[in-house]
Amino acid sequence: MHIAELRMRGWHVLGTDERWVDESRIPWAASPHRRRPVMNHYTAAIFYTLSMFRRYVLDPYRAVRVLDIGSSLEQNLAVNAADSVTLTMLDVRLLPQMAMAMLPFTFVQGSAMALPFSDASFDAVTSTCVLCHVGDGRYDDTLDASGDIQMLREIARVLIPGGHLIAMVGPILPDTDPPTVIYNIHRMYTFGWLREQCAAVGLEIIDTVTYGVREEAMAEVGASAEARYYGCITARRVVPN
Ligand SMILES: C[S@@+](CC[C@H](N)C(=O)[O-])C[C@H]1O[C@@H](n2cnc3c(N)ncnc32)[C@H](O)[C@@H]1O
Repeated sequence: MHIAELRMRGWHVLGTDERWVDESRIPWAASPHRRRPVMNHYTAAIFYTLSMFRRYVLDPYRAVRVLDIGSSLEQNLAVNAADSVTLTMLDVRLLPQMAMAMLPFTFVQGSAMALPFSDASFDAVTSTCVLCHVGDGRYDDTLDASGDIQMLREIARVLIPGGHLIAMVGPILPDTDPPTVIYNIHRMYTFGWLREQCAAVGLEIIDTVTYGVREEAMAEVGASAEARYYGCITARRVVPN
């Protein structure tokens, strides 16, 4: 990712090359996420995703095709629990072999920036804590400063008109702040910025929630207190007239 490019786009860049986190090829078993506390931002996202999924997507009498991008296995197992759901999970990293062998849903390795699926092939997309990372290379994907915008465009493309995106997007800042990136750890969004980017690709945000959670890693990289809030959105693919 190019700091100059991000600055030109009006982003506030907190980190530098010296703070580069080389987490490429992190084996899943060694990931810090495997030792997560009882209530952290992933857990909050599971509650949010399941409640919005039940409200807008789940219908026991209608088959629904769901694409998940990079969320935790706990979340995906919960979403997949209903008989009417057919779940496909995509991640740029491969899951550990043992998990792959036991998965009750389809796993596809690929990038959110170029989804290997046809247009309008899913009724819903779920994604927890991926948008803020896409294109930062931390998880070994291709470096791309506007990877998140590409991901939103791709989600809009694979959703049916009227289909839903339910996502925990990452750390969220007040609308008065500029969108910020802690190079190359993650981006921090505002709901205002997300509304604009979603609208530009044909997604209308219909719900936003902010969760305040303890995240000590944020303090270590000098992030502001606001960065300890995580944002969730539900958006609907606009139906063309
Ligand atoms: C912070 S983690 C999210 C939760 C994590 N999967 C877990 O199990 O707890 C970010 C996830 O996004 C995935 N990811 C990052 N960049 C990606 C990309 N370009 N396309 C697809 N997945 C990506 C990573 O491999 C990682 O699994």
